[in-house]
Amino acid sequence: MTKPYLLAIDTSCDDTAAAVTAGRVVVSNVVASQTQLHKKYGGVFPTVAKQAHRENVGPVIQAALQKAKIQWVDLAAIAVTQGPGLAPALEVGIEKAKELAVQHNLPLIPVNHIEGHVLSSLATRAPHRLDIAKTVIDLQLPALVIVVSGGHTEFVLVKKIGDYEILGKTVDDAAGEALDKFGRMVDLGYPAGPVIEQFAQHGDAQRYPFPLPMTTSGNANLSFSGLKTSARTFTEKLQADHTLTKQEIYDLCASFQYSVFRAITYKLNKLLPSLLLEHQIFGVWLGGGVAANNTLRQAIRQTIRPYHLHLSVPYSKKLCIDNAAMIGVAAGYKLERGEVVRGAEIQSVERIPRWEI
Ligand code: KG4
Ligand code: ZN
Repeated sequence: MTKPYLLAIDTSCDDTAAAVTAGRVVVSNVVASQTQLHKKYGGVFPTVAKQAHRENVGPVIQAALQKAKIQWVDLAAIAVTQGPGLAPALEVGIEKAKELAVQHNLPLIPVNHIEGHVLSSLATRAPHRLDIAKTVIDLQLPALVIVVSGGHTEFVLVKKIGDYEILGKTVDDAAGEALDKFGRMVDLGYPAGPVIEQFAQHGDAQRYPFPLPMTTSGNANLSFSGLKTSARTFTEKLQADHTLTKQEIYDLCASFQYSVFRAITYKLNKLLPSLLLEHQIFGVWLGGGVAANNTLRQAIRQTIRPYHLHLSVPYSKKLCIDNAAMIGVAAGYKLERGEVVRGAEIQSVERIPRWEI
């Protein structure tokens, strides 16, 4: 049997992540979050991220190997996020991966971060160690994937693993970015998405009707900047009048979150009939940080139920937000296809900060 284990590294944004995977199986998944460092900036500050990645990347890799009880000799390759992401942040992970690949004489597998989010719902928990090599892979394709994160919001058709088509994407802000920017308006800290989800549970989503963007365009593209501007104008007016009450903040969170998710389900509903006619899709998968949100999951389930489609979500919320396990899963398929970089070519692997899947 060939060695199944991969060490995966992701430093695309503000989390330093390493994981050990075997095919779709996640053996360990370690993340050093930089949230506290970036809180005071209200967003990710690239040079601060780079410095923190430099400090964290070695210990995070060691922790991932230790948790998995894996030695360097057990590894088949090292996978690393090549892009898209913040250039200075990507560089740290790529340089570390190259250095380790050369040192341990292992091939390198560069991975697109979005492909990681796309395949994150395929990740499975580690079964008993002896069973890892026997994990049966049955995939029903094609599938529609909705990636909803802080950097990306897109509908992706997975024809085969490795063969993707973007059916629609945001033309401006990503959904998570819109939630974070709204959070800043009402002082919820960074990242605001999880707080908005909590506050929205106590709020009335119908109290403040925000506009539904991009309804007239016939395509599956999305836009959130108009919605954000409208929420800003409205919130500033309220704030000029009086200090917002707790209930008003809850209602604003519920209303804004509802509008962001309604924009996604509106386009999903438009997309599905033609997609089902053209491609017999078997299911819908969800990935990205905002995929951790239960209200979004429910809204998507409701939208796809009439089409008799099932929604697959990552088995843990840790696999929704940025992580290296999803990079390892994507790399596992690349390894099967022989898409690895070896020997002298390893040095020519460079970051790709802007990279479509
Ligand atoms: O996937 P991710 O960790 O990073 C990117 O690749 O962008 O996504 C981060 C985004 C942030 O905008 C954060 O506010 C959002 O995911 N997020 C959530 C939730 N958890 C994280 N948004 C809504 N509800 C959540 N529970
Ligand atoms: Zn991401």
